[in-house]
Amino acid sequence: MNTINITETVLRDGHQSLLATRMPTEDMLPILEKMDEVGYRSLEMWGGATFDVAMRFLNQDPWDRLKEIKKCVKKTPLQMLLRGQTLVGYRHYANDTVDLFIQKAIENGIDIVRIFDALNDIENIRIPLEAVKKYGGIAQAALSYTISPVHSIEFFVDLAKQYRDLGADEIAIKDMAGILLPETGFKLVSAIKKEMPDMPIIVHTHDTAGLGSILYKRVSDAGAYSIDTAISSLGGGSAQPVTESIVKCFEGSDRPTTLNQELLSEIAEYFKSLRNKYLDEGLINIQSYFTEPKLVEYQLPGGMLSNLVSQLTSQKSIDKYEEVLREIPRVRADFGYPALVTPISQIVGTQAVMNVLLGERYKICSKEAKDYISGFYGKSPVPIKPEIMLKICGTEEYYTGSPAALVKPELVNARKEFADIVDNDEELLSCILFPQITKPYLEAKKHTDCIEVEILP
Ligand code: CO
Repeated sequence: MNTINITETVLRDGHQSLLATRMPTEDMLPILEKMDEVGYRSLEMWGGATFDVAMRFLNQDPWDRLKEIKKCVKKTPLQMLLRGQTLVGYRHYANDTVDLFIQKAIENGIDIVRIFDALNDIENIRIPLEAVKKYGGIAQAALSYTISPVHSIEFFVDLAKQYRDLGADEIAIKDMAGILLPETGFKLVSAIKKEMPDMPIIVHTHDTAGLGSILYKRVSDAGAYSIDTAISSLGGGSAQPVTESIVKCFEGSDRPTTLNQELLSEIAEYFKSLRNKYLDEGLINIQSYFTEPKLVEYQLPGGMLSNLVSQLTSQKSIDKYEEVLREIPRVRADFGYPALVTPISQIVGTQAVMNVLLGERYKICSKEAKDYISGFYGKSPVPIKPEIMLKICGTEEYYTGSPAALVKPELVNARKEFADIVDNDEELLSCILFPQITKPYLEAKKHTDCIEVEILP
C-alpha cells in the first residue's frame, strides 16, 4: 500500500514554535527508545534555533545533544534544518566552514539535512547541498513558501527543477508561516510531481491558521511522500499539526500511516507531563495555541508575532502593534518580497518597528538591512527599486554574485584564534558560529572539568 510517511518534529520545531526552543536534552532522552519504535520516517531534532538556544539559554552543548540522541535512536533517521550558507547562525559562513560543519553533523549522526534559503537563492543552497551529498547524507532541498506577485506555482516548480539539477535527493515545501492553502498545496505538489514523478516531496506546515490537516490530506492526494507533525502534547497551534490526529485523518483512506498508535499515546503522555512543567515555568506562551486565520492575510510566521509583541512591549509602544503589522508587508514589498523566515524575518520586522516608531520610513536602518539591500544576503526575488536603495544605502550599487564568495576561508585563522580553548572540530565550529557565547561556555566547561579532577580521591 502507498502509505503516507510522517516526520515527528517535537524535538525541534514543536518546541521551537511553542516554548521558544527551551526543551533541554535531558527531557528528550528518556522517551527516545520508544520514539524509535513508532515507525516515523524521521525525527527532526537538530538545527534551526536549537543550536543557538542550547548554548545561549540552556548552557548545553548542541553537539552533545546530537551524540546522546544518536545513541538511543538506532533505526529512525535523524533530521536537521539548515539555513543554507548561514548554517544555524545568522550570517554567511565561508565554504570551508560550511563543509566542515556538515561533515561533523553527519559524522555525529544526522541522516537527512533539510536546506532552505529565505530568498530561495540557489547560490545559498549550492555549497551546503554538495557537502551533504559528499558526506553521504540525504539532501532535502526546501522551497521557502511565500505569497507575492512573483511566487507563483511556476516559480516554485522552476526552483524545484534547479534543486533537482543540483542533486537534491528530495524536495520539501517549507510553509513556515502556515499560509499554504490546501488547494494551492494540491496544485503545487501536482505540478512538481508532473515534472519529476519519482522525486519524494515532503510538506511542512504550521497549524497557526488552522489549515494544517486539510492541507496534508490534499498534498497526500497529489502524491506527497511525507508530512511533518508534532505529538499532541506539544503540537498544534503555531507548531505542526498533531501527529495522532493526522494519523486518524488518514485512517481508512487509500494512504493510511503505519505508525504504532499505542506507542504514540505513551509518547503523548510523556510529553504532557513535560508540558505541565513548562507551563509552570512560564515557558509556554498560551497565545501560541490560539488559531489565527488572519495570518494568511499578514503572511507572517507565528514566531515573528510573539517577537514583535516583546519588542514593542520593551519599547513601551505596544499600542503601535496594529500599525507595525500593516507596515511589515510594505517593507517586505520594498525589500523585493523575501520569504519571512530567519534571518530575513528579523531584518524586515525590526525595520518595520523602526519605521513606525520614528514616524519616518527608513530614517534609520540596521547594518543587516543595509547589507540585505546591497545584495549581501543573496538575490531578492524581485529587484529592489532604485529609490529604496538610495534611501537606505545612499547608492544604487547591488552585489549580484554569490554571498558566500565574499567570505574568505575561515578555518585556518579560526584554528589559531581558538587554539587555547577548543579540543576538537565540533567546539571549533561552535566558536566560529557563536564566538561570544561559545568562548565563555567552553572556558567554564573546562574549568569545571579541572575541579572535578582535583576532588577525585
Ligand atoms: Co517550521
